[in-house]
Amino acid sequence: MADNIILIGFMGVGKGRTARALAALTGRFAIDTDDLIESMVKMRIRDIFAEQGEAHFRQLEQQCATWLEGQVSHTIVSAGGGFFKVNNLQRLGQVIYLHSDLDSILEAIRSHPNAEQKMKKRPLFQDIARAEALFVERLPQYRQAADLEISVRGRTNADIAAEIVARLRS
Ligand code: S3P
Repeated sequence: MADNIILIGFMGVGKGRTARALAALTGRFAIDTDDLIESMVKMRIRDIFAEQGEAHFRQLEQQCATWLEGQVSHTIVSAGGGFFKVNNLQRLGQVIYLHSDLDSILEAIRSHPNAEQKMKKRPLFQDIARAEALFVERLPQYRQAADLEISVRGRTNADIAAEIVARLRS
């Protein structure tokens, strides 16, 4: 198994921010699966969904996971919200589920200076009722996929990163 740290969790929970805080704390690099996919196909995630469909995007996530397994180690990986369904997740490294409730996630996005952009870039957040149903469906799946769960609600990125480091050591 590769020795990466893989951050999974719902859209907007703060996987990218936490990955950067973890990188600062540990001296590792941080990369993001959505960014890798966008650079691989030279398209924005929302355009991949609109033009090629979600099923195609899921194939790109699997391609990304296969590449990570073969090529990447000792790295912090923030994963898109559905990436945890790839078939080699456990072989990529330690999997950490970042948990918050949907209301707090929505509140954090809406109060962000770039709120409109943050909502627009996420096709599965366009319909809040659908996002709620997805959250309920995925919660047990995230928990099942993860080696560790960290509650992030109301906490700073540095605090969350420090807890991850402490719990990975123990
Ligand atoms: C998705 C989450 C998004 C992105 C895509 C699909 C999902 O990533 O991968 O829009 O299925 O939950 P973020 O979790 O970074 O928003």
